[in-house]
Amino acid sequence: MRASDLGRGARTSRRTKVFSTTLALISALAICGSRRAMAFPWSIDMFRTESVKPLQEAPRVMPPDALPTKNGELPMSRVVAARSLHNPLGPTEDNIAHGKDLYATYCAVCHGMTGKGDGPVAYWLTIPPANLITSAGFQTDGYMYGTIRDGGIVMPSYADAMVPKERWQVVVFLRYLAGGKTAGQVSGK
Ligand code: HEC
Repeated sequence: MRASDLGRGARTSRRTKVFSTTLALISALAICGSRRAMAFPWSIDMFRTESVKPLQEAPRVMPPDALPTKNGELPMSRVVAARSLHNPLGPTEDNIAHGKDLYATYCAVCHGMTGKGDGPVAYWLTIPPANLITSAGFQTDGYMYGTIRDGGIVMPSYADAMVPKERWQVVVFLRYLAGGKTAGQVSGK
C-alpha cells in the first residue's frame, strides 16, 4: 500500500466522523427542541387511556332457571310454536303495510314479492325457498312465526332482526298475500 493511499483513507474517515457528529447533533436538537417527540411511543397512547378492556370483567353469570321477563320468548321447536303461539295482531292496514316493508327487506330476496319462492337468489339454493302462498293454506300462524324467529333447514333465523310484534306483522302480511285469510281461518290456530 502506498503513502498516498493512506492519506486518502485518513481524509475519508475524518469526513465520516464530521458527518456523523453533525447528524447526532441535529437528532439531539430535534428531540430536545420538540415536546411532541418526547411522547414516543405514541402508537400505544390510546391503548393506555382509562377504559374497560374486553373481558376484563367476567360476564355476569345468570342464576339457574332465570327467564327473561320483558319481550322474552321461551325457546321452542317449530312444531310446538305451530300449535301454541297465536297471532295477537289483526289484519289492520298498518300491520299489513309494516309487514310488507319487513317482508320486502328480509324475505323477498328468496321467497319473492309474490311469495311463490321466486326471489332473485332462489336459484342458488339447493333446497328451494318454500312457496308461502301454498304453505299459508295449511300452516298455522304460530308455525310461520316460529320459522321466522328460528329459521328452517336452510332458511336463516330472524330472531335478531325483528322484535316479536314485527314478526307477527310479517305473518299478517303473509296471510294477506295468500288471499286475505285472517287468523282463525286456518284450522289449529
Ligand atoms: C336465504 C333464503 C331465505 C330467506 C331470506 C327467507 N327464507 Fe323462508 N325459507 C327458505 C327456504 C329454503 C325454505 C324451505 C326450507 C327450510 O325450511 O329451510 C323456507 C321456508 C319458509 C317457511 C316454511 C314454509 C313451510 O311450509 O314449511 C316460511 C313460513 C318462511 N320460509 C317464511 C319466510 C319469511 C317470512 C322470511 C323473511 C323474514 C323468510 N322466509 C326468509 C329460504 C329463505
